[in-house]
Amino acid sequence: MKLLGIDIGTGGTRAVLLDRDGRLLSSATAAHLPFASPHAGWAEQNPCDWWAAVCSAIPECLARGKTAASEISGIALTGQMHGLVLLDQDGRVLRPSIIWCDQRTEVECREITEKIGAARLLELTANPALTNFTLPKIWWMQKHEPEIWARAGAILLPKDYIRLRLSGTCATDVADASGTLLFDVANRQWSRPMMEASRLSQDLLPTVFESCEISGHVSEEGARATGLRAGIPIVAGAGDQAAGAVGMGIVRPGAVSATIGTSGVVFAATAGPVRDPAGRIHTFCHAVPQRWHVMGVTQAAGYSLRWFRDQFGATGDPAQGAYERLMTEASAAPAGSDGLLWAPYLMGERTPHLDPHARGALVGISAAHTRAHVTRAILEGVAFSLRDTLTIFAELKIPVESIRLGGGGARGALWRQVQADVYGMPVGVLDVEEGPAYGAALLAGVGVGNWTSVENASDATVRVSQRIKPDAQHVALMNRQYGAYRKLYRALRDIWRDAV
Ligand code: XUL
Repeated sequence: MKLLGIDIGTGGTRAVLLDRDGRLLSSATAAHLPFASPHAGWAEQNPCDWWAAVCSAIPECLARGKTAASEISGIALTGQMHGLVLLDQDGRVLRPSIIWCDQRTEVECREITEKIGAARLLELTANPALTNFTLPKIWWMQKHEPEIWARAGAILLPKDYIRLRLSGTCATDVADASGTLLFDVANRQWSRPMMEASRLSQDLLPTVFESCEISGHVSEEGARATGLRAGIPIVAGAGDQAAGAVGMGIVRPGAVSATIGTSGVVFAATAGPVRDPAGRIHTFCHAVPQRWHVMGVTQAAGYSLRWFRDQFGATGDPAQGAYERLMTEASAAPAGSDGLLWAPYLMGERTPHLDPHARGALVGISAAHTRAHVTRAILEGVAFSLRDTLTIFAELKIPVESIRLGGGGARGALWRQVQADVYGMPVGVLDVEEGPAYGAALLAGVGVGNWTSVENASDATVRVSQRIKPDAQHVALMNRQYGAYRKLYRALRDIWRDAV
């Protein structure tokens, strides 16, 4: 019995193969074309490109794992959330998908909020209208491309388009559906009032499953295209954040992860749908039945460092990679970066400001500062931004018993220590961290009966290999520096707006 998890990311599709104990046997990734941006702030990808990547990553993964399709007992899907895939009555793609990071719908978000009312929106969907979510994209289509909208026969999320191609079924899961703004998150079903306000018939929407339920089976056509066996159960899976959390063992209240990839996410499992009256964090269904989760998102977390590396990257010993060189330099800079502060708002910000117009800033530069200080200030600034979510969790009395690190932010010693010092508590690093595809494969295992629950699957497979304690002196310093960081946004907001 082997399990396959497939992650339809933004940069590429990744397939991972696990044995029945959750051990990683093989993985393969196939790149997607970079997203197109036909206008500033737009982001579009062609769903057929995702499917081509799936058809290459799956056979590659099976070949690397020396595994025949007959040995696979379950598959589950995960992927980028919020994207709008629009199909005609025959399941053909009508236009490129408007994906999660597209920012074109500020006007529609305002219109939705005005029509429904901010408080009612929070009551119905547990979230405010944000440009990232799917419903504002639907409103945009209705207004700007009515002739295409008129031909719509189905609306799907990115990974669910792959499910359709694999199995012929239109289905989704509660965690991914939560990011549409069309979902009654508290009751784990589509929201009728939201559909009515949007002149949308339920026939257009996929059937919703819990993340560990079987949603369909691989069809003959799906099998021919991917090398899989027809009839393999396809378990619903989850959006990338919830699946990633399952793979990191964030399945019970009190468990929290801080994952720094391109964006940064602080994610907590909760016993119920905790709403933030100010809408600064997302409240979604978790991939665990009867559980929810909250998460705050920093748009440019790892991206801050990547941008700095690309624009001002270190020279020096060519044997070391550019990141490593920057990190080695930065380890010599003092905690607090001698007063230098980084606001990571290179791509606007979600938590806590919900402001697509926010911009990055490096504040407090003196002639004594070096590139090492700047790199360290970037690491600290990103961690402060993630701490903003922990501050909101504290306000909302969401328990934080332990924090596990994920993504690139969990890899280097310096960034791990900076996070422990900024969060002011020990942080755990996992022995295997394979991202959302791994979590999806665990969900597949639960769906086909390999484990009795999502909690059991994650308890049986996820191990913390290292705990990093905060340095008491640094914690005191970071607390003061965080106080200064918190003032940056308000102080700079009008300047960004006025700048031409
Ligand atoms: C979650 C989010 C991202 C995307 C892309 O709200 O926007 O995680 O799913 O990975």
